[in-house]
Formats: sequence, structure tokens, C-alpha cells
Amino acid sequence: KLEDAKAVILEEPTTPATKIKIKQAVEKRGERVRIFGWVHRLRQQGAMIFIVLRDGTGFLQCVLTGKLPQTFDALTLTLESSIQITGTINELPEGKTAVDNHELSADWFSVVGKAPGGDEAFLNKVSEDRAPDLLADARHLVIRGETVSSTLKVRAALLQSFRAAYASLGLLEVTPPCMVQTQVEGGSTLFAFDYYGEQAYLTQSSQLYLETCLPSLGDVFCVAESFRAEKSHTRRHLSEYTHVEAELAFLTFEELLEHIEEVICRTIDGVLADPKTKALIDSLWPEGESFTPPSRPFMRMDYRDAIKYCNEHNITRPGPDGTDGPHVVGDDIAEAAERKMTDQIGKPIFLINFPKEIKSFYMARIPGDEGFTESVDLLMPNVGEIVGGSMRMSGLDELMEAYKHEGIDPTPYYWYTDQRKYGTTPHGGYGLGLERLLAWLLNRFTVRETQLYPRYTGRCKP
Ligand code: 4AD
Repeated sequence: KLEDAKAVILEEPTTPATKIKIKQAVEKRGERVRIFGWVHRLRQQGAMIFIVLRDGTGFLQCVLTGKLPQTFDALTLTLESSIQITGTINELPEGKTAVDNHELSADWFSVVGKAPGGDEAFLNKVSEDRAPDLLADARHLVIRGETVSSTLKVRAALLQSFRAAYASLGLLEVTPPCMVQTQVEGGSTLFAFDYYGEQAYLTQSSQLYLETCLPSLGDVFCVAESFRAEKSHTRRHLSEYTHVEAELAFLTFEELLEHIEEVICRTIDGVLADPKTKALIDSLWPEGESFTPPSRPFMRMDYRDAIKYCNEHNITRPGPDGTDGPHVVGDDIAEAAERKMTDQIGKPIFLINFPKEIKSFYMARIPGDEGFTESVDLLMPNVGEIVGGSMRMSGLDELMEAYKHEGIDPTPYYWYTDQRKYGTTPHGGYGLGLERLLAWLLNRFTVRETQLYPRYTGRCKP
């Protein structure tokens, strides 16, 4: 029994040690340092113990030699225990490998919080042969793994890069409310709740609020959670997602498209320019493959040409009776068909000018072609739609007509309607699903992998 083992007791050496994070390890080589972290990997080799320590900022190989491996804490050490460790970081000689080509020669360590072994051991909770539901229940532990933590680190870098791109383009960040009393993208996906006795919803999109900011703040953007009670159980639909939205005044539809292209390319370039983030992205792609940044200009494709494309390439429309047929103008191109087309073309596509019947009530009509709208979906290979946007109706009468046509009571929209009364302008904007962009950038099968704690049908924990 380990408890009875003759464990060696060691005191910490008295030489001062500088407390550092692992990301500072290279610059602190040769000095005595103190690091706190979690045991990511653990291996005994002869009389030595090798630990790969993780602290969120990086990984560091640590080696216990001499009497250290014989202490009680060393003999009973487990994966995911939190520890502090002191010693000196040295570059590795030729022939040995470790992260950053160095390792910490420990002169002492102690356990801060011991993780269990046996049935309760960490690896049992996160092993990939567990049922998907059990793994989803254990998401709080799964995020400690390299794949998920790399994904979350790139997510953070991507958000930073978005903000930098918007700042460089002169858009101001605002933070609209998530609790609202109006719908934006149709009543069927609203999450409703009781708000002090009144009906309220979780927001589907901050677009209407962004529109109200234009006369006050100029062009604006936000990064906010949006909520959709999606009935469809697909690999690109979440119930809660991070929505990057922007709204711009006094511009044309073509200028809106150019702006979307610019924001996406600047953001991606910003992320790839940082070698650490680039390495994380590369680590998520299979050996020999890597993310290909999009080339500009993005292809523009009219909705009616997409219908033609589908019909010419045998991409059919699933009919209500189970038989497939050709697409006709007016159809909402289904997800599977859209993905097939995008994958065949193999590059980003601005799909533009959708029929008004299948798009939202607020979208501006094409002058002279009133059955169609100045609208855009940006489609990416492997993922499909990542952006939805449009020019907005700027006339009061047509907006009133649009409410009526949609069966929307205009009363709660008074503040949105007022935009058309007090100095209306041509304006447009878009929303981008951050998780879908990440699925494209990081080669993930589903958007669920790119969220910290994904929310989808049947899943609201942890
Ligand atoms: O196309 P959508 O519904 O457009 C709007 O909400 C507009 N009001 C945005 C605007 O113009 N400001 O949604 C925009 C994007 C989609 O392209 C997609 O990337 C993402 O939001 N999205 C979802 N992502 C994950 N799960 C869902 N259920 C999503 N629904 C939309």
C-alpha cells in the first residue's frame, strides 16, 4: 500500500524562485522559477518522473530526479492534480524533444489539489469511447484537452482580431440588450419568457438595435449572444451562438459586400499573422492539410443563377412526398443542396438577391426588380452559410406595408419605425455566426466543437 511506503520527505530549497507562467518559460531559462499548473501528462521512466505541466498559457515538460520521485506526493501523483513546482528551465540537448525544446529540472514540488485515481480518474471521464451524451456532460473536463483548449484559444484570438478589424475600419462597438420584445428573424425560433408579467424573448439578432445607433454613433458593430429555438438538429445550428453583427449607413449594396469581404479578410489575416495562433490552427488540421485563406474578390452569384446551377449539376430539391425534383425560382435552397453547391465550387460565395418571400420583412427590394431583395448569404466550403445580411428598407410606408404582410403588430416596433421618420438613410448590415466561421477555419465537423458550453436541442448543461 502506498500509504505504508517509505516515502522520502523533502524540504523546499531556500534559494529564491521567481513565480512565472509557462508562456514566460523561454525568457526565464537558467533562473530558478516557480510554476503553478495541472499535471497534463505523467510518465515514469526508470528512476525519473516526467510531468507535462499545463497552466493555460502553455505546456512545459518537467523532470523529477534524485530523491524527488520517491516522495509521497510523487509516488501518488495523478493526472489533473494541481501542483507547484520549482527548478530551472534548460534547453534540451540534441536528440531529446519537448515543447519549446526545453524542460524544467525540478528541485522541489508540492501538490495543491490532488485529483482522484481509480474509477474516478480523469481519463475515465473523458475517454473518447464514452457515449456522446456522457462526453457532453463532462464538457467541463473535456475542455482541458488539447483539441478543445486550442479551439477556445483560437476563438479568443479571432474575437480580438474582429475587434481590431472593426476599429481599423472606424466602426464603434455597442452592447445591445439580449432581453427584447420584438422578433427579427421570424416567430418560429423565438425563445419566450415571462418578464415581470410581460411577454419577452431572448434576442435572435441585435440588428434592429444597431440600426437605431447609426444617427448617434455612426457605423457600429456588436458581439452578442443570439438565441434560436431551432427545430432542426444539424451540425451547424445552435440554440445560443455568438453573433458578430454590424450596421452601416449611407452605403450601396455593392459597398456592403465589399465591406463584408474586407472585415473577414482583415480578421483572418490578423489571426494568421500571430505565429502562436497559426500553430494552434495548424494543429487542428490533419497532417499535410491546412487552412487556405480566401482569395479576393469573393465570387458573386445571383440567387437565380444558383437555382440554375443546382439544376444543371443534379442537385435536387427534396419534395414533400419524399421524391426529389428540380429547384424552381422561389425555393429556399435547402441546407444540403447549398452545401453541395458550395463544396463543388470550393471557395467563398456571396449568394445575392434572394426572393422577398423567403427573406426577412425588413429587407430592401432591388429597384426595378421588386420581387427580389438586396440580400446576401456568404457561403463557405464545408460549412455553408456563415453570414446573412442585406440592405434595409428605408421608407416608412414600405416598412408599414412589410409589417402588415408579415402579420407583425407594429406597436412594439415603434422605436424601429421611428428610424424611418427621423432622418432615414439608405443603410445595410449583416450578422456572422462566430461558431460557423470557426468551424471553417479550424476544420471542425460541427459548430458545437467551437463553443465553450454548446447549447442545442436537448442540451443546456453544464
Ligand atoms: O441569417 P441570419 O438569421 O441573419 C440575421 O439574424 C440578421 N438579422 C443579421 C443582421 O443582418 N444583422 O443569421 C446570421 C448568421 C447566419 O449566417 C449564421 O452564421 C448565424 O448567424 N446563425 C446561426 N449560427 C448557429 N446556430 C444557429 N441556429 C444560427 N442561426 C444563424
